[in-house]
Amino acid sequence: MSFIFFSIFPVSSDISALIDHISSCKSLEDLKTIEHVLFSRKSGLLTLAFKQLNTLSPKEKKIKAKELNALKKRAQETGNGMREALKKRVTDAAEHNVLDITLDLPEEEHGHLHLIPEYIAQVEDVFGRLGFDVAYGNEIETEETNFDLLNFPKDHPARDSQGIFYLCNKERGTQSAQQPLLRAHTSPVQIHYMRTHTPPLRMICPGKVYRKDADATHSPMFHQFEALMIDTDISLAHMKSIMETAMRELMGSDVEFRWRTGYFPFVEPGLEVDVRWRGAGWLEIAGCGMVHPNVLEHCDIDPKKWQGFAFGFGIERMLMIKHHIPDIRLFTEGDLRFLRQF
Ligand code: DAH
Repeated sequence: MSFIFFSIFPVSSDISALIDHISSCKSLEDLKTIEHVLFSRKSGLLTLAFKQLNTLSPKEKKIKAKELNALKKRAQETGNGMREALKKRVTDAAEHNVLDITLDLPEEEHGHLHLIPEYIAQVEDVFGRLGFDVAYGNEIETEETNFDLLNFPKDHPARDSQGIFYLCNKERGTQSAQQPLLRAHTSPVQIHYMRTHTPPLRMICPGKVYRKDADATHSPMFHQFEALMIDTDISLAHMKSIMETAMRELMGSDVEFRWRTGYFPFVEPGLEVDVRWRGAGWLEIAGCGMVHPNVLEHCDIDPKKWQGFAFGFGIERMLMIKHHIPDIRLFTEGDLRFLRQF
């Protein structure tokens, strides 16, 4: 916006011309500039004109003051009217979604998957290529599916309510076998899967599991994935080869394995697997073994004809090794400084 050059001594007609200009303002910025020229405390035209009143005779002063007050009033009213009109124009444009290519938009933030679901997708991809189906069980199981059908003896310490989240009072309520609980491992999905599918079968099931444990390496909720393969003539050699192939894809080709015998009621023989990765120490990462004949029978699968293996991995455990994450609680705290690194 450009202005006419005004004399140092403001003349009413100049002020009046400037007020006329107000109605052609295109923006609030333009309006602000005119109002500054009129009203600024040091050099505003109206301010100076009012100051000049003192140089006039009382009679002239009275006439001039009346004239200036009328101009001031007109300037204020026109300015206020224009300000409202300009503001409305902006909101109308926003409401009608008018594209303003001159607007500076805030930088867009792109979210991404949390590292656990991202890793689960990778696990599904690797096992998918090895012919494994993906199953998602329920997070609420019963004493029967979490323990009985997996061949846990009645007095097995894992059933202790100190470690398990039972969903109603263990002594009262439903019959013991139907006692609902938050699953303590993904192994019950084996039962559901074998009862609804006929062998040969291969499946993995990733998901959340719950145990009453909480410190830097244990969380009351964590993730596991289980794998199950049932076929004819399956041996530990198949299991070892599948586990090592998958682990090399997921952790890198330089992972080393150590196999130790271990006890899990639903497999026989049972093994525990430790891995060592890039100079770190040995860390237990999975349990595995040949599916116990009792478990197959609980699912109406003939153990003389079919056999197979199962294994279960802790997902946080694998990620902690892979990324040198020192504390399991970091996965669920939602601290962006942690999450943005992955
Ligand atoms: N369910 C076991 C746990 O949570 C892990 C496990 C061990 C799974 C041996 C298996 C297995 O399938 O064969 O500690």
